[in-house]
Amino acid sequence: MSALDVDNVTKRFDRTIAVDGLSFAVPEGQVFGFLGGNGAGKTTTLRMALDIIRPTEGRLTVLGRSPGRENAADIGFLPEERGLYRQMTAIDTIVYFGRLKGMTAHDARTEGLALLERFGLGDNARFTIDKLSKGMAQKVQLATAVVNRPKLLILDEPFSGLDPVNQRLLEDEIRRASANGATVVFSTHVMQHAERLCDKLLLLARGRKKFEGTLDEARAQLPARLSVVARQSLAGVAGVKSCVPAGTAKDGWQEWDVELNPGVAAGDVLQVCTEQSISLRRFDERRASLHDVFLQIVGPAEARP
Ligand SMILES: Nc1ncnc2c1ncn2[C@@H]1O[C@H](COP(=O)(O)OP(=O)(O)OP(=O)(O)O)[C@@H](O)[C@H]1O
Ligand SMILES: [Mg+2]
Repeated sequence: MSALDVDNVTKRFDRTIAVDGLSFAVPEGQVFGFLGGNGAGKTTTLRMALDIIRPTEGRLTVLGRSPGRENAADIGFLPEERGLYRQMTAIDTIVYFGRLKGMTAHDARTEGLALLERFGLGDNARFTIDKLSKGMAQKVQLATAVVNRPKLLILDEPFSGLDPVNQRLLEDEIRRASANGATVVFSTHVMQHAERLCDKLLLLARGRKKFEGTLDEARAQLPARLSVVARQSLAGVAGVKSCVPAGTAKDGWQEWDVELNPGVAAGDVLQVCTEQSISLRRFDERRASLHDVFLQIVGPAEARP
């Protein structure tokens, strides 16, 4: 069963088409990255899954049901706009949300204190939210989303506003939730997080799906690149699109940046080089980063981080 199923969904706001005929499914237990530039339609889609707004057309299924109240206890949500009661203490805030999700006060407090400890906020449990830094308050908000170990965790830009140490902590928390069986859907502009975490990702631009698949499948969208040290250019070798010198030659050996034709594998080119007795001292495949893939698929104008 899919934890989240989006079936041909369109959302219009007046003249803006925020989401345009979007379909995708998130299988249970996956960590799913929702990528796209500003205004791509990520938040709008996540809000429809949470029944905060309704689709203009199409339908969503969340944990096998229509979006709505019945699902509330099974979903943890970190909204894009953060906000907690400023006068409530950190631990009371978590207990409050835990109770809303059906936990006993005792369980919510025990789990809440454990979470604060894990998030480095053990000493701040009794601080009111307005006495916490922005990143600290965000960690409390994350704790409210995970306190009851929901089946589905929906995190909208969870990494924004966190320093590198806390970004790592959040990555660990996402892995932990996943290891405990939760499905995690998160949106981000920061490709490295998606690269490290996701089983599957979806790239959105102007409300439309540009790509859906695994990281390897995303990388395969780009032609392979090689870094080669050889005595001669590889231009003209079957499968090679371009071969440009990088740096100056030394003792007759030159480093080359090589781009292959789409669909050509590095191994095929290596074989041809061997057959043609081209002397090689180094032959490295450069893996495309998700950032490169994103720019290529979405286009630089729409991929502003
Ligand atoms: N309530 C609204 N009323 C009118 N237009 C809206 C509303 N909410 C979103 N939009 C429009 O829908 C489009 C998609 O917005 P959305 O917030 O889903 O993007 P996003 O991918 O989350 O972007 P970001 O990365 O900046 O958070 C934008 O053009 C936005 O102006
Ligand atoms: Mg958004």
